[in-house]
This record gives sequence, structure tokens and C-alpha cells, in this order.
Amino acid sequence: MLIAGLVSDFPPGTITPFEQARFFLIRFADGGFLALSVVCPHLACVVGWDAVRGRFTCPCHGSEFERDGRVVNPPAPRPLDRYTVLIENDRVKVDTRQVLRRTQTDAADLVYAPPGAAGTAPEAPPVVPFGPGQPNP
Ligand code: FES
Repeated sequence: MLIAGLVSDFPPGTITPFEQARFFLIRFADGGFLALSVVCPHLACVVGWDAVRGRFTCPCHGSEFERDGRVVNPPAPRPLDRYTVLIENDRVKVDTRQVLRRTQTDAADLVYAPPGAAGTAPEAPPVVPFGPGQPNP
């Protein structure tokens, strides 16, 4: 189990490479974490993150992947594989012992810090209903 860092080390909307462990840790804008393998599911070249294009790209045969690993351009036959992410005591851990093969992407693959944990969004303010005499936006 690799301790990637604290939740707050990975702001929403970031992609952090862990080159030795051969994965990218993605934190989506909604706070969800996903650890993607760097290994292209076509013929196992190493993909890189192209920040300009906002895609993972494979230098060997041109496959491209969205930040959730789904295929944008073949010949890759399926999404990037992933690793299990755990969040315990405000620490983000990635289980690099076993790669989880994916044939499709799934929102359930994302892992979220418990509400109120450091680095998570504060609770939404209470909704105040509009009443008489208040402006209607
Ligand atoms: S190995 Fe990645 S596209 Fe062929």
C-alpha cells in the first residue's frame, strides 16, 4: 500500500504522476480520486499526460484517453486500468499490488474523502427559501 499523501496535497482538478509506482493520481473537480495505471491497454507502452490537450496520450500508436481513462482515440481497445484508492485518516493510499482491469469506465471507480475531512469542500450553506419581499434572482 503506497501512501500518496494527504487529501489536501491533491487539490480538485489535478493530475499527479507517481512515476516509480507507475500510476497517475487524478483528483476530479468534484473531489473524487482515481488512480490510473500508466500502461496502455493496447501494447503496454507508457502513456503520458498532455496538459495542453487534456488527455492521456500513448507515444507508440497514438491512443488517447480522457482523464477518467476512457478511450478517445483507438487503437487502445479499452480504458486505462486502475488501482484501488483508500482514504484513511486524511491520507490517500493506493494499493499498487494489484492492477484492476477495466473494460469500461464507471463513476463508482472514484473514491471520496469522508465529509468534513481536511481538504474536502465545506458543507454547503443552508438553503434559504425566497419569501415575500425578497428579490427573485
Ligand atoms: S501501445 Fe499504446 S497505442 Fe499502442
